[in-house]
Amino acid sequence: MKTLHTALLASLLAVFGTPVLADAAHPKIGFSIDDLRLERWARDRDYFTAAAEQLGAKVYVQSADANEQRQISQIENLIARGVDVIVIVPFNATVLNNVVSEAKKAGVKVLSYDRLILNADIDAYISFDNEKVGEMQAGGVLKAQPKGNYFLLGGAPTDNNAKILREGQMKVLQPAIDKGDIKVVGQQWVKEWNPTEALGIVENALTANNNKIDAIVASNDATAGGAIQALAAQKLAGKVPVSGQDADLAAIKRVIAGTQTMTVYKPLKLIASEAAKLSVQLVRGEKPAYNSQYDNGARKVDTILLTPTALTQDNVHILEDDGFYTKAQIAGQ
Ligand code: GAL
Repeated sequence: MKTLHTALLASLLAVFGTPVLADAAHPKIGFSIDDLRLERWARDRDYFTAAAEQLGAKVYVQSADANEQRQISQIENLIARGVDVIVIVPFNATVLNNVVSEAKKAGVKVLSYDRLILNADIDAYISFDNEKVGEMQAGGVLKAQPKGNYFLLGGAPTDNNAKILREGQMKVLQPAIDKGDIKVVGQQWVKEWNPTEALGIVENALTANNNKIDAIVASNDATAGGAIQALAAQKLAGKVPVSGQDADLAAIKRVIAGTQTMTVYKPLKLIASEAAKLSVQLVRGEKPAYNSQYDNGARKVDTILLTPTALTQDNVHILEDDGFYTKAQIAGQ
């Protein structure tokens, strides 16, 4: 009987190629991350892996270190490895349509994590409301500096979130611009969200404007750190409000010190564990609790959208309450 079964399977494999037999009880999950060198993603990875293993899954993590070809090859390897679902934080949102098609042909589910993959047949998307994050960033800076010259320091131009953040920021800033209260004297995207790139951009902006920049709307903490380093060189750190997001530990210390006006806390344990649950549900054919939908250019993508929290000196304590950092970490011991 066994030989007949083996022969039958062999002929099926010969005809249909290697079928991806979803192992619903113990799903195999590929986690393809843009760049583990940026602080937040290592935490996403750890929270995700812990939650997925709790659900009986096995997780294979790959970091593309901000290289789009490497990310494509890593995803292809995960498909070849026979994973049941691939969770992707895209380095470049616009170049994954072919490899996503390969995954779908192989019967592999695809989940876009935190950043939306564009023009591709993905199964689901999970993120925080990035437009709301942008509104919080601009709102925090505008409250601190209602008038003057503004510089907009965007995220990576390859990251769809950068554009959504900017839409949220402009929703808040446009009325003040229209009234003539504020003037945008410059704006630039920051390649790969890189703090050194941000430092150079703000140094040039300060020079070009004779240091007459009254506020900087930065789109995450890493780039805010670069901007504040440039301000400090001109003895302007703490005088020019700067926004951020991610509640990176260095940024929390800057918020407490007063050199960064605010950051946005996105509970990574929440998004990571919800993504782990969603990944397993996709494999098991269960119905996730979608609460939104985004058109990614190829289809309407069922989405789980989570709520961010603006953080200033007044409420930075919630990070301890949430167990995101210890008191000692925040105190810098
Ligand atoms: C964005 C993400 C932010 C930001 C950035 C850096 O897509 O939503 O949290 O930190 O990436 O990786």
